Amino acid sequence: MNRRKFLLTPIAGALAMVSLSLTQPAPTAAQTKVVNVYSARHYGALEKVFAEFTRETGIQVRLSNASTQALLERLRAEGPQTPADVFFVIDVGTLQIAAEEGLLQPLQSEVLNAVIPPELRDPKGRWYALSLRYRTLMYNPAKVKPSELSTYEALADRKWRGRLCMRPATHIYTVSLVASMIANLGERRTEQVVRGWMANRPIFIDSDSRILDTIAAGKCDVGITNHYYLGNKLKSDPNFPVKLFWANQKDRGVQVNLSGAGVTANAPNRENAVKLLEWLATRGQDPGVAGLPGGNSEYPVNPSAQPPEVLSQFGSFKADLASLPQYGPLQTKAIKLLERVGYK
Ligand SMILES: [Fe+2]
Repeated sequence: MNRRKFLLTPIAGALAMVSLSLTQPAPTAAQTKVVNVYSARHYGALEKVFAEFTRETGIQVRLSNASTQALLERLRAEGPQTPADVFFVIDVGTLQIAAEEGLLQPLQSEVLNAVIPPELRDPKGRWYALSLRYRTLMYNPAKVKPSELSTYEALADRKWRGRLCMRPATHIYTVSLVASMIANLGERRTEQVVRGWMANRPIFIDSDSRILDTIAAGKCDVGITNHYYLGNKLKSDPNFPVKLFWANQKDRGVQVNLSGAGVTANAPNRENAVKLLEWLATRGQDPGVAGLPGGNSEYPVNPSAQPPEVLSQFGSFKADLASLPQYGPLQTKAIKLLERVGYK
């Protein structure tokens, strides 16, 4: 499945929902149903989905936020004592690494297996994609014609000298983009490309949203960001002056990543954790219930869920799902390559 197609049928709630009756006495602390979530999602007020889950199920979501890498370190350090039930991050490579290290437990969920396509979940059930994002080229249409754009690799051409905005190597988005390039092009060719980007002296900005603002302000012409940052800008300003270009459509397709989750190996609230994942994969996909993809302009992982309206203007595209299983195994190589090249 390379080219993703979305059916426009709304999803049916696949889960029996639990609701607390107002006539019941308030639960004591010991009775309160909770799920503790280590979350690398950093979309603040856009994340109404967790409150919606609590409203429908009565299960309190306790979120603990940090970067993807910091949460993996925390899980490793805490080992079997971790209070976390759910490890919810924004990078498939890190989910693969956590699974291989035994930090996540395999699930057998008919609900998850029915709604999440096999290439978007761990074959052993240790992690599941819950929304999709594509890292692609963004440009200022006053300065760049779409016919001048093609691939990530082509940004190494010297015509882009002094015209690029890039995210630093410390961010996992950059690491996984480079891992996907190694998977497709090999290490040598990827290193040439990254050296070419560096030779073009990009402006490094550690925020996709600010990269878009910098392009809009005319301070760089082309950047690489996740698609939903532009989706979110367009929701508040339909005339935001940056355009999206789907990268590598004539070969492997645009780079894909996912926000996904697994249940920790010794989850204290395992049952509630499974319920959260199943809810996010079904009810939580629907933009109509402030769903996970809808709130942040991501694409749903459940093929029967409707993508957020703002994304229709981006059209259809081809995505490189084939290299997804390589992000974890190639993560260290990608980090070393970026260090070697002196990528900021
Ligand atoms: Fe993000």
